[in-house]
Amino acid sequence: MISNKPLDGKVALVTGGSRGIGKAVSLRLADMGAQVCVNFFKTRSAAEETLQEVKERGSDGTLIRCNVGNHKTLDRMFDTIKEKYGKLDIFISNAALGRVGDIHKVDDEMWNLAMDVNAKAFLYGAQKAADLMMEGGNIVALSSLGSHRYIPGYSSIGISKATIECLVRYMAVEYHPKKINCNAVSGGFIDTDALKGLPNYEPIYKEAIKRTPSGRLGKPEDIAAVVCFLCTPDSRWVTGQTIIVDGGFSIV
Ligand SMILES: NC(=O)c1ccc[n+]([C@@H]2O[C@H](COP(=O)([O-])OP(=O)(O)OC[C@H]3O[C@@H](n4cnc5c(N)ncnc54)[C@H](OP(=O)(O)O)[C@@H]3O)[C@@H](O)[C@H]2O)c1
Repeated sequence: MISNKPLDGKVALVTGGSRGIGKAVSLRLADMGAQVCVNFFKTRSAAEETLQEVKERGSDGTLIRCNVGNHKTLDRMFDTIKEKYGKLDIFISNAALGRVGDIHKVDDEMWNLAMDVNAKAFLYGAQKAADLMMEGGNIVALSSLGSHRYIPGYSSIGISKATIECLVRYMAVEYHPKKINCNAVSGGFIDTDALKGLPNYEPIYKEAIKRTPSGRLGKPEDIAAVVCFLCTPDSRWVTGQTIIVDGGFSIV
């Protein structure tokens, strides 16, 4: 039977694919025909629910528990994918962590947490993903406006996101011979647990509503749509870019 799903036969890994934006990406990839490896770390129940929803969409999927900030365990995650599928076509580096605090309070712990989970997990994950991409592939990392704009308390996370945006440019050139496109999607304020957990959520929320032309916060699905477009053949001429998806917040 001929499938009309654009990602039929593709194998995808979504880090932090169990909740928030990662969940929306996992489900959209499944809708598009991909088999989805859903990575999680702490919340198994959410991951199981997401996997169930992947399967209800007629796709195969696998749960992989791994703290992406612990780089020694990354190998095991990619070994699991190799054993089960023999390849990887799509790598979405979405999991993120960080502590909020002014630049004057940034210490080793804050710096290392943001860099380990956000930036280095992307670098080492992309290296391992590229090794499993036999017929080309797509790598997409999640960034945020804090990479190039001031967000109160966001310094260490913003710096890790700036690193991600720089990494996709180097990856785009150096993975080009392997036919791998590498991009980042930079979201505005998106209604997820991560945003609600910020100590300054209330003023951020009000400012986002006021400044966004459509007068609402972004939804995980708004970001997932662009991330998944970057995994389709139609995005073949897009590489090394950071695409801002913020409903116009940053231009007002
Ligand atoms: N929300 C926003 O406003 C916004 C804006 C721009 C960009 N982004 C970016 O979008 C991405 C997703 O954000 P979100 O708001 O959807 O976050 P979220 O709702 O907090 O979800 C985070 C996900 O990452 C997983 N995770 C956290 N630490 C992990 C680790 N060490 N190893 C593996 N998985 C881990 C979580 O799983 P467990 O619960 O199992 O640990 C969960 O699935 C992040 O890169 C974020 O920076 C978000």
